[in-house]
Amino acid sequence: MLRLVRTELAPDEAELLEAARAVAPRAWVPFSRFRVGAALVGADGVVYRGANVENASYGLTMCAERVALFQAVIAGARPIRICAVACIDAPPELGSAGRTPCGACRQLLAEHMLPDGRVVVDGAGVYTIAELLPEAFHL
Ligand code: THU
Repeated sequence: MLRLVRTELAPDEAELLEAARAVAPRAWVPFSRFRVGAALVGADGVVYRGANVENASYGLTMCAERVALFQAVIAGARPIRICAVACIDAPPELGSAGRTPCGACRQLLAEHMLPDGRVVVDGAGVYTIAELLPEAFHL
């Protein structure tokens, strides 16, 4: 069972979550109809946004978190301090399982956040990346 840090959001977290919700409608999701928005803030204080982009060749689909993360990395914004994610089409019965970042995104985030970097999940709460991915692979 994942340990949630807390459910109440600090002002910077709430603001970032709003940005994630706002970008989610830009997702390209003709196959799943499941729109996800991500917003990250890095060491530079700038907000980087992403939404999921699907493809008819399904395996090419790119998650919202990675769209945002790659922009932050090439801008030199490491380490990422907070990542907010909003799955605006997730039905309530999915709970946190249908809202937290997928395993691939956790691995990518772990490389660019400090272990105590915060992941704010809409409808679930605040986690650290180390809690979402204990023992991440690092070279
Ligand atoms: N998706 C994300 O954008 N982020 C995640 O962490 C999990 C899944 C997307 C991929 C696909 O377009 C849709 O959600 C359904 O899996």
